[in-house]
Amino acid sequence: MSTLRLEDLKQYSDVLRTRQGEAINIRFVEPRDTEELQHYFRSLSTRSRYNRFFGAISELPKGLLSEFLDVGARERFTVVATKMVDGFETIVAEARYAFHAETSTLEFGLSVDDRWQGHGIATALMKNLECRAAALGAEHMFGDTLRSNETMISLARKSGFAFVNHPDDWKLVRFDKEINVAPKDIPCASWRLAALSRQADSPSASA
Ligand SMILES: CC(C)(COP(=O)(O)OP(=O)(O)OC[C@H]1O[C@@H](n2cnc3c(N)ncnc32)[C@H](O)[C@@H]1OP(=O)(O)O)[C@@H](O)C(=O)NCCC(=O)NCCS
Repeated sequence: MSTLRLEDLKQYSDVLRTRQGEAINIRFVEPRDTEELQHYFRSLSTRSRYNRFFGAISELPKGLLSEFLDVGARERFTVVATKMVDGFETIVAEARYAFHAETSTLEFGLSVDDRWQGHGIATALMKNLECRAAALGAEHMFGDTLRSNETMISLARKSGFAFVNHPDDWKLVRFDKEINVAPKDIPCASWRLAALSRQADSPSASA
């Protein structure tokens, strides 16, 4: 297999469409996004941040920020959805996912900039994550949300997820879906190569 380096992450990007047909670029987060990513989280409404992180934070704490930026470490990945606004590539949504090989599952969480909510971005992003899950060999994908988060619950229901109790926390509900993307012709299969390449380049990344 030819070695793909995460330094060349730009080649692993997809284009999503909003409900109005606007193009949104989705790619792995890169070190150059550090400031913009923090700006994105600071700009989210208090409520959106609370719903995303299940607690009150004003920005990503330092440790979490470096985890977000360490794409591929321990099979965890961060993607950002961006759009050109006034000539500046602006983050309008983000998602973080982890592949759990032992259970063949992909766990994820996501958020969309408040100004861009209701445009179908999360719906499209979750479809893209389903493709990535299939490319990684996951059989199920799941996420957790606060029971009070009606928007996420409604979105998950419309996207074909079923609901189960969270194993440890009564305040959360888990939504779970069987992956039904055909294993052949997965349009985002290159993401798997990127993930494998990362492991090959840096054996400690999976420790
Ligand atoms: C939940 C969230 C990701 C949805 O993103 P989005 O891009 O606005 O979602 P979409 O536009 O794709 O909407 C899809 C569905 O969600 C539901 N939805 C969206 N906005 C809603 C609202 N304000 N109230 C109730 N349901 C809503 C609807 O069912 C909608 O489908 P419809 O438009 O056909 O009715 C976004 O609200 C968000 O970032 N919230 C803060 C972070 C968060 O809660 N993350 C989830 C936990 S990890």
